[in-house]
Amino acid sequence: MEVPVLCFRLLIRVFILLGVQSDNAAFRIVPNRLQLFEFESVSFHCDGLSGSVQLRGIRNTKDFICDINGTSKVSCTIQRVYLTDSGEYWCETDGGQRSNSVNITITVGSVILESPVVPVMEGDCVTLRCRNKTTSSHLTADFYKDGLFMKSSSTGEITIHSVSKSDEGFYKCNISDVGESPESRLTVRALDRETCPSSDHSFYVLLLLRTVFTIVMVVLLLLLVGLLHCGKLRVTQK
Ligand SMILES: *[C@@H]1O[C@H](CO)[C@@H](O)[C@H](O)[C@H]1NC(C)=O
Repeated sequence: MEVPVLCFRLLIRVFILLGVQSDNAAFRIVPNRLQLFEFESVSFHCDGLSGSVQLRGIRNTKDFICDINGTSKVSCTIQRVYLTDSGEYWCETDGGQRSNSVNITITVGSVILESPVVPVMEGDCVTLRCRNKTTSSHLTADFYKDGLFMKSSSTGEITIHSVSKSDEGFYKCNISDVGESPESRLTVRALDRETCPSSDHSFYVLLLLRTVFTIVMVVLLLLLVGLLHCGKLRVTQK
């Protein structure tokens, strides 16, 4: 009994892990960022979803739908984005299966923040990069979290080495004399090491009790067999 239960729990873990990963794999944006300059081209890919897939979006409370047929059309491209293309986008199958969604912001300004498109896991290393539209060279940038100044970086980027839930929030950056980026949300997923610690505990207690019970029963059985055997011997000896 113990082995199937353990395997079952392991399987659930594996499925949760796979679920998270396929969730992330299902939706891709090229270029891989949440902020775009006006007139840039962007394409949305819905990977790992089967059947009839649509890219959907809500822009300015208006619905946006682009059909993606798994074989002939694998992505939706907007050749030139405008301010009004800002909004929430996701992939959805006709069966109602949904990928994670992303909030894309288009700016008419000349500074954007490059931040992870999909939620990051606790402990991950995250780099936020401040980008200038006209020059690719590094410019000193100031970074803000939830509207509060964080720090200044001469390389134009900051790295959070082991991200935690408290790093979640809205980030933006500013390059002096050039401009400020829009804000984008960084989402941090908690590492679910112990889904249910208390039930896990009782699970192991139960496992231990079962094992002890089994051992006791086996010993008793052996004793009984031994006694019967001795009895038989005594009977035959008589
Ligand atoms: C996108 O923005 C909407 C509206 O502000 C918000 O409700 C939603 O949670 C956001 N989604 C993500 C993935 O950040």
